[in-house]
Amino acid sequence: MKTLATRRFPGDAWEELGDVEIGPLEPRDDVDVLIVANEPVDLDAFAALRLIANFSVGYDRIDVEGARARGVAVTNTPGVLDAAVADLTFGLILAARRRMVEGDALIRGGGWETLLGREVSGATLGIVGYGRIGRAVARRAEGFDMPVLYTRETPLDELLAQSDIVTLHTPLNAETTGLISRERLALLRDGATLVNTARGAVVDEDALVEELVSGRITAGLDVFVHEPHVPERLRGLPNVVLTPHIASATVETRGAMTRVVVDNVLAFRRGEALPNVV
Ligand code: DGY
Repeated sequence: MKTLATRRFPGDAWEELGDVEIGPLEPRDDVDVLIVANEPVDLDAFAALRLIANFSVGYDRIDVEGARARGVAVTNTPGVLDAAVADLTFGLILAARRRMVEGDALIRGGGWETLLGREVSGATLGIVGYGRIGRAVARRAEGFDMPVLYTRETPLDELLAQSDIVTLHTPLNAETTGLISRERLALLRDGATLVNTARGAVVDEDALVEELVSGRITAGLDVFVHEPHVPERLRGLPNVVLTPHIASATVETRGAMTRVVVDNVLAFRRGEALPNVV
């Protein structure tokens, strides 16, 4: 039986897997382990499949129920990327509120101007989704003297209306798809900042683009509905900071994610309990 991966994932732990084929997810009947990064897997195409080891904490593009029904386990990489994602969240908050990317572009274009931004210290931070990553963001907010509202305690609509900055940390599932709808975006305060490092489809992307075009709010976006497609209208806007889904992309964190993937695959090969079944 073979292990097939969609690419070589970074970090030294990878070598412990031994022989791994790198290739596309095309039909095979000799593969029992697939290593993917949240790419959809056609379960019919892999007759001998027993494990999908996902190099990602989010598994929204993997048919977990279908896999379970066929006796295929799915694992993910929780716990090791909270700090990196929380750090980038704060990077986006600071960059969007203090107009840092706009200032950089201004200078590179030969300009100079005082760009008035919005304060981060003391601003009210609304955290939507209070799992490990949401809590890591809350710890950072303490250092900025920010009052924090959580969806666990404050109803979502109230949180949206009372926060200066709203940051999203929910998984994408049936309940959270379109959670931040057009109507809910309209609840945001004038001058508020929305940060999304979760999944693009948690927000109504078209409605968000319209809010940003109106100039009423600012945003920091690491994720989009149809990656790598980014809505064309966002590219020219000064009030949004865009990053290419890099919240967990540090050498250290990606190496730690590979470690988790490898531990799950090795446990499977030894017939042991899998550490991170979803
Ligand atoms: C995750 O692990 O879910 C991150 O978004 C990287 O894909």
